[in-house]
Amino acid sequence: MLERLDQLEADAVAALRSADDAASLEQFRIAYLGSKGQLKAAMAWLKDASKEERPKLGAGLNALKNQLQEQYDARKASVGGGGLAATGPLLDITEPGMPPRLGRSHVITQVIDELIDVFARMGFEVAEGPELEDEHHNFIALNIPEEHPARDPLDNFYLDPTHLLRTQTSTVQIRVMESQDPPIRVIVPGRVYRPDTHDATHSSMFHQLEGLYVDRRVSMVDLKTTLIQFAHAMFGPEAEVRLRPSYFPFTEPSAELDIKMQIKGEWSWVELGGCGMVNPNVFKAVGYDPEQWTGFAFGMGIERIAMRRYGIGDIRWLFENDVRFLRQF
Ligand code: DAH
Repeated sequence: MLERLDQLEADAVAALRSADDAASLEQFRIAYLGSKGQLKAAMAWLKDASKEERPKLGAGLNALKNQLQEQYDARKASVGGGGLAATGPLLDITEPGMPPRLGRSHVITQVIDELIDVFARMGFEVAEGPELEDEHHNFIALNIPEEHPARDPLDNFYLDPTHLLRTQTSTVQIRVMESQDPPIRVIVPGRVYRPDTHDATHSSMFHQLEGLYVDRRVSMVDLKTTLIQFAHAMFGPEAEVRLRPSYFPFTEPSAELDIKMQIKGEWSWVELGGCGMVNPNVFKAVGYDPEQWTGFAFGMGIERIAMRRYGIGDIRWLFENDVRFLRQF
């Protein structure tokens, strides 16, 4: 019996010596000191021991138990991270992770990307211009005369008597024609600014998509064909285009652009903007010969498209940056 005690001590000491981290120390504790451990089991030897052996064996087992407990405690303290660490790693690397939330493009950006795509297929390139403009590009070159009501200081964000935040992307028509010779085929997505009182359909900043096509013998048929192609690509093969006679200083003739699109399963006409044949005065302003060159232009509201398509009831939701709203798109 006493030999078995010696053997148990030798095994336990060796096991404890080779336990060098929290996990193996815990294994040791369970194997030797735990309630189903070897020391507990060795207590059963007492009843088989002879009368003479029994006291010695009992004392030996107790001494061994205390010794192992002490050594185990010391070792655990030196390995560090007692407590929880001793019962297993805190970090379970086999747990499925929490996927991080991905960001996404704003719904207006998504619509702009789609518009660029649709017009790129028809050969239109993207052009850009400054949001802070001078009167020349915002009005004069676009054939908007001094006395025109659109130039009223109350209808524009003037920064000084001759500079303002652009009220329309048509300014970029002028910038493109000033810097390039025809033929020209560009679209211009961009922000425009007007001092409107904010409500469900008005915002002092919104987006427009401008288009400009200049070549020889361009006609109203080219304009309408381009708009029909656009409507079909963007709103489906059943979409239609309607031009209503209108007036803009920079086009002659001019028309209001309506597109029949599907909204919540129903087809209805939506006013998207204006269009027309480039006014010869505009060509003169950029130094193009109006006898040689012809062109069409159009401008539409991008928020309009997004709001109608997705059933967004208030333009302000597009600019409030509430992620609960934005995550839907
Ligand atoms: N610039 C006009 C507006 O903001 C829209 C527009 C109408 C643009 C006719 C055009 C056009 O290019 O030909 O109301």
